Amino acid sequence: MSEAMEAEFDTVAEWTATVATALGAEYHVPAGCRGSGSPAALDWLVEHMGLRSGDALLDCGAGVGGPAAYAARSRSVRPVLVEPETGACHAARRLFDHPVLCGSGSALPVADAVFDAAWSLGVLCTMPDQLALLAEQRRVVRAGGPIGLLAFVAHREVPGDVLPDNHFPTTGRLTDLIRDARLQVEHQVTTADLPAIPADWSERAQAVEDALAQRYGHTEAWQLAEQQSGEIGKLLEDGTLTGELFVLRAA
Ligand SMILES: C[S@@+](CC[C@H](N)C(=O)[O-])C[C@H]1O[C@@H](n2cnc3c(N)ncnc32)[C@H](O)[C@@H]1O
Repeated sequence: MSEAMEAEFDTVAEWTATVATALGAEYHVPAGCRGSGSPAALDWLVEHMGLRSGDALLDCGAGVGGPAAYAARSRSVRPVLVEPETGACHAARRLFDHPVLCGSGSALPVADAVFDAAWSLGVLCTMPDQLALLAEQRRVVRAGGPIGLLAFVAHREVPGDVLPDNHFPTTGRLTDLIRDARLQVEHQVTTADLPAIPADWSERAQAVEDALAQRYGHTEAWQLAEQQSGEIGKLLEDGTLTGELFVLRAA
């Protein structure tokens, strides 16, 4: 993993739990959604995956754990988090009361068919072994169970010097990956077509950002993480990338 990714997904992830804890419990979920951070996207997934109370949900590349906690609150699912960065694992344990396994999505440390559902949100483009991410989720979900995916898809070439360690698939490449993992698309939506983020959620997320900047703004890790997330924001704004949500099932 590059220095910038390490900064964002490890160091700043751990700091996020520190500032969110100081701000209060109502800040934890918005603080903990790092990448997928929109209630509308999570509501869409929860609904279209058909998640039900008591379902065991694997969150693969869970980061600080906000999306899993959101699903636990909105549908009473039972999440288990898998995340390779120890700073994010610690942060998720501090903010939320769900099991966290430190490991990679390309070799999940869990047995076959033990989950009712799985998702990976904003993870695919951060790792080279994308087929393994999808195939592993297929392996650990019971037959017929849904797999949610948020992927940032490239519609034109991303210049080589911008985010060189990200791997944004084209639409064609993503279609091939889904087919090669022996999955099929049941539902799809572009995140830009979903309802806007509610004002109170945005205010809380901003308060967390402000507190992070105030406390850690002078550090190289914070600056690298900001630069990386800012570049992705620019590519989404100019249409180079779109956020695509999918519900997949075994073909
Ligand atoms: C943009 S963040 C998204 C975090 C979280 N899913 C969310 O939506 O808030 C991408 C996450 O993918 C994780 N990641 C990177 N490589 C991974 C791998 N090989 N397996 C699983 N997760 C990985 C990173 O550590 C990071 O936490």
